[in-house]
Amino acid sequence: MVNLPYIKLRRKVELHAHLNGSLSTESIKELGKKLYGANTTAMESICKRLVDVDSLDHCFSKFPLMHELTSTKRGLQLATELVIRDFAKDNVIYLELRTTPKRNAAMSKMDYMVCVLETIIESMKTEKILVRLLPSIDRAADVAEAMDTVNLVLELLPKYDNIITGIDFSGNPKVGKFEYFMPALTKARQHHLKLAIHCGEIDNPSEIDQMIQFGMDRCGHGTFLSETQLQELGSKKIPIECCLTSNVKCRTVNGYEDHHFKHIFNSKVAPVILCTDDCGVFDTTLSKEFALAQQIYNLTNDDLDYLLMMGLENAFLENRDRIYLLKEISPPNYGI
Ligand code: IMP
Ligand code: ZN
Repeated sequence: MVNLPYIKLRRKVELHAHLNGSLSTESIKELGKKLYGANTTAMESICKRLVDVDSLDHCFSKFPLMHELTSTKRGLQLATELVIRDFAKDNVIYLELRTTPKRNAAMSKMDYMVCVLETIIESMKTEKILVRLLPSIDRAADVAEAMDTVNLVLELLPKYDNIITGIDFSGNPKVGKFEYFMPALTKARQHHLKLAIHCGEIDNPSEIDQMIQFGMDRCGHGTFLSETQLQELGSKKIPIECCLTSNVKCRTVNGYEDHHFKHIFNSKVAPVILCTDDCGVFDTTLSKEFALAQQIYNLTNDDLDYLLMMGLENAFLENRDRIYLLKEISPPNYGI
């Protein structure tokens, strides 16, 4: 039996959440109603199609459904509000959102980013949550887009450096080559942006080596890291962001029992964090992911608290904010 209450009540930290993938089915219906009026039949059908993921390719075929809903400023603003509200409802008190700046008929990439950033600022006034943003570089898109995104972020930093704290490298891991994106990521790093890199989501040892050599601040998924690669990350205290249900549903692991989280957590070979990835597409919440981990890997409540602290320790945050959150998150017996 999944033991939700303890973890549901704990204040939590979410470090790996893609904005468009984090729209829950309930929020999609609400969004549809607000955007298109009372007729939600189309939304019901989207929601049914959304959550039946059974492979990595299948997962990537879902995102255009949400991208359609967030292709206008109003849609994007509402979606950002709803995603933040859903995390806050789950008692997430610190959220690092990621999203790929997009241009379309209604918005430039700059419009897209400003809309998300301003909505984050507004949402923080009404929800009890601190939110930071990692603009994403999509490895499946053109390389020039990546440099464009980094330049855009640098343009936005003077005004939003309290919200933008890093860059995410993501997208379909079967498409594009990491090396092509190194110049853009290098430029971001030169400007003191932290790097969260999706690394080892599929079995590609040479690319994983390249990524480790290039360096990163956090490793997304790390499913196919060899023991040597894990040790290398561990020796540099680079944490692995583990997303249990995401990997199980995309079938990059054989099942929860076989998930690499178990080995990393038990061996302490590297720091590890529990995250959701795309809680809408994978029909989960951060509380559910913690509860699943507790049930499947026999974790104690203290283990869950330790994992929450790992999240906080590895958040891309100013120390001043970390100290504030430490007080908010610490369990009563933590001695703070
Ligand atoms: P968005 O950037 O807000 O549009 O969020 C959806 C996007 O995040 C997708 O189109 C992918 O580029 C990226 N993404 C979401 N989940 C994953 C994942 O598991 N691996 C790699 N990229 C992902
Ligand atoms: Zn991801």
